[in-house]
Amino acid sequence: MFLANDCSKQRSPLSAENNPDLPPIIRENRLIFVGILDRYQTEFSQNRYGGQPDGLAMEIRTAAVIGAGTMGAGIAQICAQAGWRTNLYDAFPEGLERGMATINAFWQKGIVRGKTTTEEKKSWSSNLVAISELNEAVCEADLIIEAVPERIELKREVFASIDYAAPAHALLGSNTSGLSIGEIAASTNRPERVIGMHFFNPVPLMKLLELVRHDSTDEKTIEDSRAVGESLGKTTILVKDVPGFATSRLGVVLGNEAIRMLADGVASATDIDTAMRLGYRHPMGPLELSDLVGLDVRRDILNNLATAFEDESYRPHPMLEALVKAGEFGRKSGKGIYDWSSGEKAER
Ligand code: CAA
Repeated sequence: MFLANDCSKQRSPLSAENNPDLPPIIRENRLIFVGILDRYQTEFSQNRYGGQPDGLAMEIRTAAVIGAGTMGAGIAQICAQAGWRTNLYDAFPEGLERGMATINAFWQKGIVRGKTTTEEKKSWSSNLVAISELNEAVCEADLIIEAVPERIELKREVFASIDYAAPAHALLGSNTSGLSIGEIAASTNRPERVIGMHFFNPVPLMKLLELVRHDSTDEKTIEDSRAVGESLGKTTILVKDVPGFATSRLGVVLGNEAIRMLADGVASATDIDTAMRLGYRHPMGPLELSDLVGLDVRRDILNNLATAFEDESYRPHPMLEALVKAGEFGRKSGKGIYDWSSGEKAER
């Protein structure tokens, strides 16, 4: 019976020294019986959710996701769906608990919608393990994806810890939306194995995986990452390591401009969103999307762009700053540009 890895005897610099009282959902998942993992996945998961293709350049048995926020939880979910043992780590017990609950809720909703069977949910759940020690999460992982908040020093610290504990062959991805992959990679002794793996929210539904190569990312790492994307049912694009990459730069500028228009009274939030939905066929308007992504996340990306390009026009609009300062981050906090407190979108 498998309980937990013992490959790591030393505590990570980031390990949660002060969180001995893990909530029940985490304790239960730490003790989940994983058994011998089915490395070939079920036929279902290969057909509908990706799954390891025959030509995968490297074999993934264990994935570790570092950070159980919106993005980390989504990434861990699809890794578990791909049939990999998936270790989800967060430094904060409540963050880990929330991440696990989010994944379970998605799977449960899938059952209600008739998209997921109870057997699938059970099988995917058995692949997913919540872990509160970083070393333990990564020490047997073939693939490690970091999804901690968008602060370069934090990411560098996390990568240094991963580098210390992870197997030499492991593929190391960062889900940063725009920070320098080269700078992140430089905090490890294996920069050639580090690559940007930028996913999109909601991760289980969005088809894109933006791969970002820095100057020393090697070809094998790119090849492995493309195969990982395929296994996860994503289409990959390959982008140079420039601030904001190909996606965030355009996305946040549109969102910031929409907020400026709202603050200037050009139109209501709903009308600005409807303009882009119906006039440009965007699936979602830029204001609603900002609330979905998280206003704090968008604010951080804009500040990073302003600093990186030395261009103040990227700075977040004061209205965005004010909402973040008030703790109104969008959907996840119940209020943002819209009021989500009833569960539905409402103008404020
Ligand atoms: N389980 C299984 N399937 C589910 C599901 C669940 N829990 N929830 C939804 N689905 C399925 C639905 O059944 C539906 O499937 P079909 O197409 O086969 O019918 C599909 O997923 C879409 O679901 P909905 O009908 O509920 O939702 P929708 O059609 O309104 O689309 C959306 C929702 C995908 C979020 C869409 O509005 C969209 O694409 N919005 C834009 C999102 C976007 O731009 N994201 C990127 C943000 S930027 C970012 O993330 C990067 C960053 O750096 C911050």
